[in-house]
Amino acid sequence: MINLRDIRYLRIGTADLESSIRYATDIIGLQLVAREGKSAYFRSHKTDIRGDTRDHSLVLFEGDPNDQTIGLELLDPRGFDAVGAQLENAGREVHLGTREECDSRRTKALIATKDPSGNKIEIVCRPYHSGTRYFPSRDAGITHFSHIGLYTTDAVRDTKFWTELCNARVSDWLGDSPFLRIDTTHHSIVLFPSNRIGIHHVNHQVEDLDDVMKSYYFLKEKNVKIVHGPGRHPISTAIMVYFEGPDKLTYEYSCGVKHVMPEEEATYRPRQFSLEAYNACMWGSRSYELSQAAKAHPNELRAVV
Ligand SMILES: [Fe+2]
Repeated sequence: MINLRDIRYLRIGTADLESSIRYATDIIGLQLVAREGKSAYFRSHKTDIRGDTRDHSLVLFEGDPNDQTIGLELLDPRGFDAVGAQLENAGREVHLGTREECDSRRTKALIATKDPSGNKIEIVCRPYHSGTRYFPSRDAGITHFSHIGLYTTDAVRDTKFWTELCNARVSDWLGDSPFLRIDTTHHSIVLFPSNRIGIHHVNHQVEDLDDVMKSYYFLKEKNVKIVHGPGRHPISTAIMVYFEGPDKLTYEYSCGVKHVMPEEEATYRPRQFSLEAYNACMWGSRSYELSQAAKAHPNELRAVV
């Protein structure tokens, strides 16, 4: 089994790098820490111990917005040599990162592959930390990058990839979407069944409810499209707001996500939630995306709007 620690970074193409940098700093509130060629590096991790700050959590590069990669940190670097064979035995193609590729990811080593849907993944070993602390570009209250929604063309097949080849566990299901945890956080990856692949949304955790609501009014004032919320997911207890970023990628702020602690692992059982509006938001906020989908498929999705 490939034991992962966390999602370490995302690498996302963008059609207009300069305006995406402005959005990442002025709107989301990330710290621009480096520019290299046509790539920009952002930091988002507030830590108690200064050296625990990760070098970066997001890279935006000039390119195809559908070119997206998820960097996952290996739990124990001693397992790195076995990762290539584990992936190949599971039928996955692998590529050992060159020195140049590792340098651009700020890691000692990496192995690139794809999940069965075709989403690009990099498993990184000994990624770099920073001696300087995260200094946000606006006071959004971000504490760290936390999770992604990820499109899948076959949720059952890809759940096996994440839970049998890798060490993710199903925390719960919402409809056919599994919420997968890697560490104690209720979900690091949520799979969204679709006929496309790529990242569905990018989540940053903020300190508290006040940060969610402050940003909600800030985003409205800046004419940023609110996609869902403010609201609360009963499945993870997280208070959230979703909003649209460059290249129509959705970003999310949330706080208060549920954790499954090590002593609960043995007895924890995932729960099934139905696709009803109050299971997406217990306060009654409506998802723009689901509302649009329901208009297109009124018989299938009537319950969620
Ligand atoms: Fe989310």
